[in-house]
Amino acid sequence: MKFTVAIDGPAAAGKGTISTAVAAHFGFAHLDTGLLYRAVGRKTLLGHDAVMAAKTLAATDLQETDLRTPEVAQAASKIAVLAEVRTALVDFQRNFAARDGGAVLDGRDIGTVICSDANVKLFVTASAEVRAERRYLELREKGHDVSRETVLADVKARDERDSQREAAPLKPAEDAIMIDTSDMSIDDAVKTAIEMVQTRLKPSNRT
Ligand code: DC
Repeated sequence: MKFTVAIDGPAAAGKGTISTAVAAHFGFAHLDTGLLYRAVGRKTLLGHDAVMAAKTLAATDLQETDLRTPEVAQAASKIAVLAEVRTALVDFQRNFAARDGGAVLDGRDIGTVICSDANVKLFVTASAEVRAERRYLELREKGHDVSRETVLADVKARDERDSQREAAPLKPAEDAIMIDTSDMSIDDAVKTAIEMVQTRLKPSNRT
């Protein structure tokens, strides 16, 4: 069975948690596509050329332990504006989506570009302030010495760059279902997403 769930949205909206939970619930494979961009961004911080890094990306690059740092996140957002970098990463993502048994991909352009024919498209969002607070708590818990102001500024800078770029900007697909998690518990957001996927999985709703 091929069944693709595309989950897009800005940084720290809850995509990752929702995607992991949806994949676990239905037994689908999950690809956090942000990791591909983070792995390329990380390489540029080490002095590599972004396009070359994207073309030669290996599975081991996705296992580096420092992919979740704020520095790598900003570097990822910067290289993600490059059309050649994005093109180099398309096949890997589409092959993943086409696997048997169902797949969840989360990112910025999954519903609009990578899997424009996905069976379910969700766009998960929340206000910049709520997202920054979540990211701040997450980073502090991991021992990063960051301030609320810096994290909010980082989130806003990434939002701006990710949604204003020419190549595959962050935006909801026309047929995406919006989930605003600003005033929602993560449990409720997960429940909502699972219900939406469940509805589309019913044979009468499959196209
Ligand atoms: O989801 P994330 O925070 O790990 O993503 C890091 C950066 O990678 C994000 O700011 C923009 C870029 N990205 C992208 O352009 N397209 C995707 N499908 C996923 C991430």
